[in-house]
Amino acid sequence: MVETNAPVTGAVVVVGTHWGDEAKGKFVDVIGQDADVVIRYGGGPNAGHTVMVGDATHKFHLIPSGILNAKAVCVMADGMVIAPEVLAHEIATLREAGVTCENLRVSQNAHVILPYHKRLDELEEIAKGAGAIGTTGRGVGPCYADKASRIGIRMGDLLDEKRLRERLDVALPLKNKLLLKGYKDYAFTPDVIVAELRPHIEVLRPFICDTQAVGYDAVADGKRILFEGAQATLLDIDGGTYPFVTSSHPVSGGATVGTGVPPTAIGQVLGVVKAYTTRVGAGTFPTELLDERGDRIRERGHEYGTTTGRPRRCGWLDAFALRYSVRVNGLTGFCMGHLDVLAGFDTVSICTHYTKNGERLAHFPAGDVSLLDGCEPVFETLPGWAEVEWDKISRFDDLPANAQAYVRRVEAIAGIPALMVSFGARRDQTLIVSGKPAPRELFTLPRPSAFGARSEVGAVATTRVGVL
Ligand code: IMP
Repeated sequence: MVETNAPVTGAVVVVGTHWGDEAKGKFVDVIGQDADVVIRYGGGPNAGHTVMVGDATHKFHLIPSGILNAKAVCVMADGMVIAPEVLAHEIATLREAGVTCENLRVSQNAHVILPYHKRLDELEEIAKGAGAIGTTGRGVGPCYADKASRIGIRMGDLLDEKRLRERLDVALPLKNKLLLKGYKDYAFTPDVIVAELRPHIEVLRPFICDTQAVGYDAVADGKRILFEGAQATLLDIDGGTYPFVTSSHPVSGGATVGTGVPPTAIGQVLGVVKAYTTRVGAGTFPTELLDERGDRIRERGHEYGTTTGRPRRCGWLDAFALRYSVRVNGLTGFCMGHLDVLAGFDTVSICTHYTKNGERLAHFPAGDVSLLDGCEPVFETLPGWAEVEWDKISRFDDLPANAQAYVRRVEAIAGIPALMVSFGARRDQTLIVSGKPAPRELFTLPRPSAFGARSEVGAVATTRVGVL
């Protein structure tokens, strides 16, 4: 065991291992109690997480769950896209609940989601027809597109109305041309946009600053830094199941871009995985259960989107995708949530790999969705566990023996240790796996010296992604 007062050896990154909604916020909340700085590095109001303040439960989209630690500085970094009215509303809601938000820092370089981004998100989805990807409709993709096209508006631009209007004068003619001529829709005027923004800007002004300096100084001062990933690995614009992805980099590498924290400052990378797998929006989902078992998981697990209310597609745990996630993120351990949701099944299944046309795939084919289409998941079946009085469980060893065995089997397949598990939304329903470090120790563990330990299932091709 590492001393809890040992010097900090590295930042901790928490990412989702599959298609999002892994309930990362729950584990971030537990680890975040010991963090000095919590940084969200990507995505926007497409994310959704539930934050509990006292007896009150709030659903947030932008503010990191780390805001609940009053002692921690809570950063929304450059890689985020922010809808000012959503952020202003979240700050107001927190203030009503007695959270001052005085430790919130919003990057001057984060991009602003404007009304035309949302409109274009809707119009693009309609225009794609059968090729629509089922976005959350929050304007995230069009905002990132403007960022890449160098016609975006950044949070820092909001601080000076003259500058804001200059930036809108560059972007709006292009957008209006597209809206009017391309989509035969309506146009936006700078006056209306600025007038709508004004009250929100006054709320946000005190929070907008150079957050790269916050991250850099935190490293220099040996602070405990926790990165809160949004979305998840398979939604990464490069590493995910393109085009059914979001427009940012939810993988661990995204944590080092625009946060002031370099890759060399990261120590542990934790993947949050559900005991089963879910997906919202379109795209192939090999382990999806289209029968009563999928419905049962959805109802028991309340698998409806926090942001859109859409029912989530549910299926058995895809550990083949998990192994891909280990590789892409350099995961050093995983946290498994929703163990209670699988209670009551006679047997539970884990997908260990896929076959296609009778051949075994070497890797989860994230980079080639045509290869993913028609893949057959191959399952290992384990005995299930019965419902228990979950409130009586306070240690990992109290969990039903078959639930413990399930976690251990996922460890073996993934080739990384399970560090924490959870079986409910409350903080006390999250447990440290026996013999594993406490959250505070994660910041002081020796940095991983080796990468790429092979898991016990299947060969790993090193030459190309594809069929072995
Ligand atoms: P967008 O991020 O709104 O552009 O949506 C692109 C894809 O990512 C869609 O399939 C969404 O359902 C999915 N997505 C985006 N954010 C989340 C999330 O927080 N959880 C789950 N899926 C998400």
